[in-house]
Amino acid sequence: MPKTTILDIYKKKAEGRKITMLTAYDFPTAQIVDQAGIDIILVGDSLGMVVQGVSSTLPVTMDEMIYHTKMVSRAAQSAMVVADLPFLSYQTHKAEAVLNSGRFLKEANAEAVKLEGGSQMADTIRAIVDAGIPVVAHIGLTPQYVHMLGGFKVQGRNEAAREKILADARAVQDAGAFSVVVEGVPASLGSEIHRELRIPTIGIGAGPDCDGQVLVIHDLLGLFERFTPKFVKKYVNLREHALKAVKEYKQDVEDGTFPSEEHSFK
Ligand code: KIV
Repeated sequence: MPKTTILDIYKKKAEGRKITMLTAYDFPTAQIVDQAGIDIILVGDSLGMVVQGVSSTLPVTMDEMIYHTKMVSRAAQSAMVVADLPFLSYQTHKAEAVLNSGRFLKEANAEAVKLEGGSQMADTIRAIVDAGIPVVAHIGLTPQYVHMLGGFKVQGRNEAAREKILADARAVQDAGAFSVVVEGVPASLGSEIHRELRIPTIGIGAGPDCDGQVLVIHDLLGLFERFTPKFVKKYVNLREHALKAVKEYKQDVEDGTFPSEEHSFK
């Protein structure tokens, strides 16, 4: 399978075919996502919450992101790998943003980076793109701004906020982002952004009209139990299956039924 490139992503939009994006943070999970034919694997800083067990994405570091992106890239035969720039790896100086974005390509074999923010990030996006690094922007509910937003809340509910998010969408497109994740906005606004932009829109809690969708894989597989946002569809409850399996193993060891002859060497 050839690797998915930004040209394939543009082509899908042009042909009206939906773009699929899903997170993964390690080799076996990325292999499943890749083999399922997902277009883009996002190594999201959501790993802070679903893998590291912290309560926001803010503590995640560049080195941790590089570590996880390396594992994912080794597994991705066809999916494009997009790595998330973590909090404070791109907000301070444009040069630092370019260097950290470049680390994902040089050290971890990613093919693009994602960063949060709209108009205020336009110059930074431009600088990263000028260095030859494709950028996915992320607008609407931006989890790295959780303390500014007063929590993980739906954005763009009033006219002024809608206008601001539309302006953000235009700004990141004009700055050269090849795609934009739109998170946590009313479906009507997701639809309006989709109609207004030339670049592909990838929604998460942004209604059905975006060019593509993204979810956190731990949500989709039922592996994250702390809370479930309204936009999540749980396709399986793997946590329940895993818990049952581990309990059975414990019982078997305690009963002496495992290991049996079948699992012993002659
Ligand atoms: O970090 C992440 O996984 C994300 C997605 C939720 C879009 O940013």
